[in-house]
Amino acid sequence: MNLKLALLPGDGIGPEVLAQAVKCLQAVEEAFGHNFVYREAVVGAIAIDKTGDPLPQSTLDLCQEADAVLFGAIGDPKFDNDPNAKVRPEHGLLKLRKELGLYANIRPVQVFPTLIDNSPLKKEIITGVDFVIYRELTGGIYFGEKKINEAGTVASDLCEYSELEIERIAHLAFKAAKNRKKRLTLVDKANVLESSRLWRKVVTKIGQSYPEVTLDFLFVDNAAMQIILNPALFDVILTENMFGDILSDEGSVIGGSIGLLASASIGENNALFEPIHGSFPQAKGKDIANPIASILSAAMLLEHFGLFEEAMLVRHSVDKSLEKGVVTPDLNNLSEYTTSQVGDFIAHTIEESDDDFNM
Ligand code: IPM
Ligand code: MN
Repeated sequence: MNLKLALLPGDGIGPEVLAQAVKCLQAVEEAFGHNFVYREAVVGAIAIDKTGDPLPQSTLDLCQEADAVLFGAIGDPKFDNDPNAKVRPEHGLLKLRKELGLYANIRPVQVFPTLIDNSPLKKEIITGVDFVIYRELTGGIYFGEKKINEAGTVASDLCEYSELEIERIAHLAFKAAKNRKKRLTLVDKANVLESSRLWRKVVTKIGQSYPEVTLDFLFVDNAAMQIILNPALFDVILTENMFGDILSDEGSVIGGSIGLLASASIGENNALFEPIHGSFPQAKGKDIANPIASILSAAMLLEHFGLFEEAMLVRHSVDKSLEKGVVTPDLNNLSEYTTSQVGDFIAHTIEESDDDFNM
């Protein structure tokens, strides 16, 4: 298969982890005879430094022309505590999601059996955890009207959703549930928010077309508690933009490291794949960041294009690195393996195990 991939390394550890994902994709190309073309562009703080714009037009054009985007990370602390900053790195990612129409952000949460002791939660609680968060990504409070009065003393962010915005992601989430454990949980705050009540109404209506899926509802505060108390009960969680942002960071704790969680952001014509973690500026340039979330994002990219065997080989090679203890220090503080060594190990495993794996 021929694929044109846009690479957006971004800030902090983004370039380091993305480089490992690319190594793994190149190993897949080699092993299966595919041809992927990679083009790189700047986004985020580095783009602001170079061009003044966190998402230069040339970067957006590159993403629009590509079959998919592989994204590193975004954010730089020098912008975080400056309330007067006119441009922020995060705007680059938000604008990219909006411009590419990436309305569904899919974040799987699983526990690797080899890492069961890495979790801060008890083994009994996390055994068998396997759920996926469908987070709406281009609406809600992130994109509603923002206001601040002239005195700078009162500010607001509007949380707005249309029926159509809810319907399109609800269909994807129901389809996913149908192919999984057939349970969909809508997380909202319908006891308080009008927008949540619209979500309930629309999702309930769409649920009628998926009779094999059991639909239930949880208020977001209760959901935050259940993700820790009973994570194995979840199958597909469907939720709006900000609740999904928060709950997916919470979910990442279950598996023992945020450095393991990948995500796919899907629209009608575009798709972007990125780790759920941030730019981890303290680790920048140190070659210590965990590349697995980025590598698993590449596996999700392969699955998106129907390359299931290839994706399975990537996942199997990640498992091998965990089994053999070839991991970064976030997973084992005695480990001396670097980001690039873990990437090399996984890429070599892909190249070598291709033959026996295909049998
Ligand atoms: C994420 C991040 C982004 C978000 C930030 C960087 C804008 O936290 O992808 O979860 O809030 O969506
Ligand atoms: Mn987040």
